[in-house]
Amino acid sequence: MSAHRIPTRVPLTLAAALVGATTACAASEGAVAPTAPAGQSAGQSTGQSAGQSAGALATGEGTTGAPGIGDPDFPLDGNGGYDVQHYGLKLSYDPATKQLAGSAAIQAKAVQDLTSFDLDLHGLTVSRVTVGGAAAGFGRQGDELTITPAARISKGDRFDVTVDYAGVPEPVRDYADLGTYGFVATSDGSFVTCEPNGAKTWFPSNDHPADKATFDFTLTVPQGLTAIANGELDGTPRTSGGKTTYVWREKHPMVTYLATMTTGKFEVRTGRSAQGLPVYAAVDPAFHGSLDHLYTESAQITDYWSTVFGPYPFSSTGGVIDDFAAGYALENQTKPIYGGFSPEDGIIAHELAHQWFGDSVSLTRWKDVWLNEGFATYAEWLWSEHTGKGTADALFQRYYANAADPMWSYPPGAARPADLFNGSVYTRGAMALHALRKDIGDATFFSLIKKWTAAHRYGNATTAEFVALAERMSGKSLGGLFDAWLFQPKRPAATT
Ligand code: TRP
Ligand code: ZN
Repeated sequence: MSAHRIPTRVPLTLAAALVGATTACAASEGAVAPTAPAGQSAGQSTGQSAGQSAGALATGEGTTGAPGIGDPDFPLDGNGGYDVQHYGLKLSYDPATKQLAGSAAIQAKAVQDLTSFDLDLHGLTVSRVTVGGAAAGFGRQGDELTITPAARISKGDRFDVTVDYAGVPEPVRDYADLGTYGFVATSDGSFVTCEPNGAKTWFPSNDHPADKATFDFTLTVPQGLTAIANGELDGTPRTSGGKTTYVWREKHPMVTYLATMTTGKFEVRTGRSAQGLPVYAAVDPAFHGSLDHLYTESAQITDYWSTVFGPYPFSSTGGVIDDFAAGYALENQTKPIYGGFSPEDGIIAHELAHQWFGDSVSLTRWKDVWLNEGFATYAEWLWSEHTGKGTADALFQRYYANAADPMWSYPPGAARPADLFNGSVYTRGAMALHALRKDIGDATFFSLIKKWTAAHRYGNATTAEFVALAERMSGKSLGGLFDAWLFQPKRPAATT
């Protein structure tokens, strides 16, 4: 991670890294092959993963869906007992009163018999819940919305849930040193960035990346404002009675933290990249001068990454700059968002690389977040090299030379729940990939990367699966290399 990229978070993250340095690394975190969460075997095949299979589904007691999906570091994130296929969100937002109101229609499949199950929802008032069209009982406890359908759902059944709700969304503040995230009200609308678990601040969900689903958004805002979500706009927005409704559809599976409904005044530019991919760029009028740069760079970089990482996984690319001074960016699927700054090409390269690493190939559990951030940071180095700035090797050497860097005491392959986005996960994660590239050679490394994005396209993956694929494709035993770079709390020995 670099200080320019996430300025507001860097001091917190570094402070946490220093505190973390005094904590002994638990022995179980040293394993090269991490154990999988409940419901998934660590040695799961690296073959094509079904688009919407949830990698870490937990099974609750009897017929009660578990209140968490089975990520040991985030025990209440997501839920067990079912797998969401689709979210249909119909929401209206009024920036004057900050009221969000509407309904979520969720299509799910039971993975066990269910007499009750949970959705994640933070704040907001639920007025009615139905399951299969019939009114269902519901209760709230913390961020769990517990639903009791009138009739038992059998394992394997598909079922529809609707939740009607309203209120003033409360973003998550200061959880795990992450600042404020989730649904954030701005002066003219909303800025919605939800990693790791802020989707629950604006819609009831199975809020964990192990359960991916398709999405439709029907978003109503006061006339004159724009509502931006993931995927493609369906038709021309309709205005009546002083309000405009935008319909967006994301037809590729998406994790909940990448969903957005960013609203406000925006200037929009659309078109196609040189390779023919649709591009949607939007900027708050305060960033008027950045619209063309955002549009052009996003188009060019997406086309370039398609040659390096494999075919672009989604049906459009783009970006959004809002005037909310978050100071960070998030790789929202199809539309990365930049919070209050005009991004340099390196940051755009980072967020667009996430479309492959994180968005299409998603985490099974948060401990493996270097699979997102290490890859996206390494992409920045590749972009630097491609544009004739520093080479990836020069960047690697520069970081390696600093023996006092706190990242050496933080093994990036075992991201800590209280400090998930530590600089080590970014920089040392990228260094691990560079060390691998040097060990197996450019030809094998770049075919490995393409194979990785193809094998897990639209699915979920783990570090163990990446290690297994690298060993299979290189024909080398790489346990020592990955152990030194990802799992040891010290600086690896210099190689060549
Ligand atoms: N994934 C983001 C990046 O590096 C960083 C990030 C983590 C973030 N949590 C966030 C951004 C919450 C916005 C909100 O590109
Ligand atoms: Zn990132």
